[in-house]
Amino acid sequence: MTAFVRLALASFLLAVTYIGPVQGLVQYCHSDPSVPIHFCLAIETWQNTTSSSTDLLMTFGSQKVFQDGWIAVGLGSSMFGALIFAEYVAKEVPILSVRHGKGHFQPQPSDHSPEVKISSLSVNGSYWLEASLHCYSYDRWVTLDDKESGWQPFIWAANTQAPVYSASMDAQLAVHEYYGQFGLDMNRALRQLEPLSPPLIDFSRENRDSTRDSGRIVAAPRSIFRWHGYILAIASMLLFPAGVICIRSGFEHAFQLHVLFQVSASALGMIGVALGAIGISASRWLDIKKYVHEPHVQFGVVLIVFIAIQNLLGWFHHKRFTQGRETPLSTQIHLWLGRVIPLGCCVNGIMGLELANSYKLNMILFGTIALINVGVTGAIAYISYKEKHMAITQKDEATVPFLSEEE
Ligand SMILES: *[C@@H]1O[C@H](CO)[C@@H](O)[C@H](O)[C@H]1NC(C)=O
Ligand SMILES: *[C@@H]1O[C@H](CO)[C@@H](O)[C@H](O)[C@H]1NC(C)=O
Repeated sequence: MTAFVRLALASFLLAVTYIGPVQGLVQYCHSDPSVPIHFCLAIETWQNTTSSSTDLLMTFGSQKVFQDGWIAVGLGSSMFGALIFAEYVAKEVPILSVRHGKGHFQPQPSDHSPEVKISSLSVNGSYWLEASLHCYSYDRWVTLDDKESGWQPFIWAANTQAPVYSASMDAQLAVHEYYGQFGLDMNRALRQLEPLSPPLIDFSRENRDSTRDSGRIVAAPRSIFRWHGYILAIASMLLFPAGVICIRSGFEHAFQLHVLFQVSASALGMIGVALGAIGISASRWLDIKKYVHEPHVQFGVVLIVFIAIQNLLGWFHHKRFTQGRETPLSTQIHLWLGRVIPLGCCVNGIMGLELANSYKLNMILFGTIALINVGVTGAIAYISYKEKHMAITQKDEATVPFLSEEE
């Protein structure tokens, strides 16, 4: 009996010492019934004497309800500067892509990323996608918030719907629907023995290693932002320039058409801006603060102010004009805002597409219309300069009134 107990104890101790160094020293599993994804991360670090820096050994497994989309984890407290590992299946090929977060944009693979050796990568019948990897000198890339405490913040994000079309490391990934943060104590991840292979995930293990788990989950209201984009693109890239062309055209009802186009563009613009605001306010408070710092949003506010001024100037000028009075300064401002606003809208539209992580085709289409706008604006400015120049050389004393200047 005692011999049996001793044997059992000895085997147990042997098992513990054997399994101990092989298993992940820190681990985090995310499972939340309100999110159709599940992922686990087992991590060890190792002081590599050859490179005198720290290596990261990791097994990252993830599962989605459907096979489309992607899941990523990143070392860092935000997308900016994070070292990101994204997992996805494209054309039935499982992929692990190492990417560099540069802000609230789609992270891309980078030449400056640390060297990563993937030792295993597979997806099984229940769509469990698991990658084991060795990331060399990860500490040269990721700086710990606080070296003493070894606290490493992580971000995670997922999209469960948009298919990934290209079975490559730099495949286009649609913007995340869900995201959150957690943290791991990297001091406890440090192992003493040289690692043989990345750690295994222990599914029976509790989340005791993660020092914080604030799984903020937000389903981004994407369709609202899409309509915000379409409507504003029509208003700013088609209707506004069309109004400018009308007033220059010399058509019979040039002025009426001009007003019609500018009023409808302004009204559509307001609807577009309202949709953007609804989209932002549907996000959580922390995201609202983030949106406020987005250049696209800030520049958008500037453009709205410009458009309001522009409409007021147009109205003011017209009133004075019908009274037979001239307003050269506001005329000039109105003319220049008429050029600046559509171009500003083009720039902001491209920033918006970038923010929404839009498809390349959209970018190309949008960019082409933007270039046409630049061309048209340039041509109009040139023609008006020429006309003015001629008027001056002809020593035409009469100051050009607002509406006839365009003719
Ligand atoms: C230590 O780092 C070097 C260079 O990055 C690498 O070639 C070597 O395999 C690493 N050692 C171990 C045990 O992983
Ligand atoms: C896939 O792998 C996961 C994790 O190891 C496991 O829980 C699941 O049962 C596997 N599914 C199949 C069909 O093998």
